[in-house]
Amino acid sequence: MYTLYYGNIVHTPKLGSIEILLNHYVGINAQGTIEFVKKASSKDEALELVKSGGNVKDEEVSFVDNSHKLASFLMPGFIDTHIHASQYPNIGIGSDLPLLDWLNNHTFALELKLDGSEEGKRLARDIYNKVLDRTLSNGTTCASYFTTVNTETTEIFADLAAEKGQRAFVGKVCMDCNDSFPSYQETLEETVANMKRLVDHCHKLESKGVYRSLVCPIVTPRFAPVCLRELLTELGQMVKQYDLPVQSHVSENKDEISWVQSLFPECPNYTSVYDKFGLLNERTILAHGIHLTGPELELIKSKKTSLAHCPSSNTFITSGEAPVKKYLYEDGINISLGTDLAGGYEQSILGVARALVMVSHHLAMDAEKDCKIGVAEALYMATVGGAKACNLGNAVGTLEAGKKFDAQLIDLDVPGTNVDVFDFQRPDSNDKPEAVQDKILNLLYKWVFAGDDRNCVRVWCNGRVVVDKRKSV
Ligand code: GUN
Ligand code: FE
Repeated sequence: MYTLYYGNIVHTPKLGSIEILLNHYVGINAQGTIEFVKKASSKDEALELVKSGGNVKDEEVSFVDNSHKLASFLMPGFIDTHIHASQYPNIGIGSDLPLLDWLNNHTFALELKLDGSEEGKRLARDIYNKVLDRTLSNGTTCASYFTTVNTETTEIFADLAAEKGQRAFVGKVCMDCNDSFPSYQETLEETVANMKRLVDHCHKLESKGVYRSLVCPIVTPRFAPVCLRELLTELGQMVKQYDLPVQSHVSENKDEISWVQSLFPECPNYTSVYDKFGLLNERTILAHGIHLTGPELELIKSKKTSLAHCPSSNTFITSGEAPVKKYLYEDGINISLGTDLAGGYEQSILGVARALVMVSHHLAMDAEKDCKIGVAEALYMATVGGAKACNLGNAVGTLEAGKKFDAQLIDLDVPGTNVDVFDFQRPDSNDKPEAVQDKILNLLYKWVFAGDDRNCVRVWCNGRVVVDKRKSV
């Protein structure tokens, strides 16, 4: 099926600015690729554009006419570059504890429940179904997930993600030295064998079904202190052998940093532990990175590694405030966003974008330098920054010809909306184009700060409708 969208478009191709395209047509072919984003004088003219691209018949075109909606726009889907699917039941639990106590008191015990027993598999199916539905409903079209150490239930997760059509990086948690909670870990040999099994499983998924699976395995050492050197060595080799991306945590909490320094005295800093074992490259996503030193930032930049900023988690478990503006503009590092469920309580990247802006304002209140992050930068990190972190910068993140159609349709006028729009705030036919642009921009700001999943009415991944909350658009 060919999709032809007609309406407003909002995206952030450049860091720091928002592009608003008023009443444009977007043509998306049956492979889910955007063929054009253009203004046209009529639907017939747009249909001519569709036909000029290939042999498409009228009845094969699904026309999504959103042009009559005044407080509505199409956006790229959100990209959540750090989320623990398995921790979803624990949202909101444990805000009194810092990271290492929070892991020992709440997190490991929950992850351990998702084992290969019938009960573990049932629970995994329930949790994973819900977290995938919840993120999709919030407009997350792509996410990099941590599951648990267990492989069977991780395969259940991969199957569900493939079925639902989200672009998902699937990270079985690797750790072989969890001394504070020893019932929850694997041996080196188990980890290596199970990683191979997961890679095979995901490759098999790729050839299944009507749609090509968008699921990709990702090498996931949980964080340096729970991995022995041999395991890190094996994982580094696996990255090369299978050409896989990597994700982990870095520099989240000061006690964690001291612990890493005591365990790896031969390494000059936390980040360099990952580098030593071949785990830092342009397909690595390091979460948090709050307290990084100058040499670590230089290393991250030189390896083209991305940082997943998780402001709601950093606040919830009192980890700190990452100086994101400096990272972006002075250090030149790609920054994406992560919910970090359930260290974070926000299920949507929209909520994380809000937290990002608010945390940056708190930093600005205490600093002489400008630390404030604006909505344009926040939306960039939520989309383009995420795409780059996942090495999908050429494929998703903006709505441009040649990219895959991963998008969300936002409507502020849905029943029960949390955003009240007043008539003077809506574009009208007497407005000059600049006035319309300004009004859409203000509606966008209102959505960022007051909107929620109710406003996300339709979601596409790779051109396929994966969420549809209203019958006819
Ligand atoms: N560091 C190691 N494991 C975790 C985790 O599950 N969540 C967070 N926020 N940090 C971690
Ligand atoms: Fe995390």
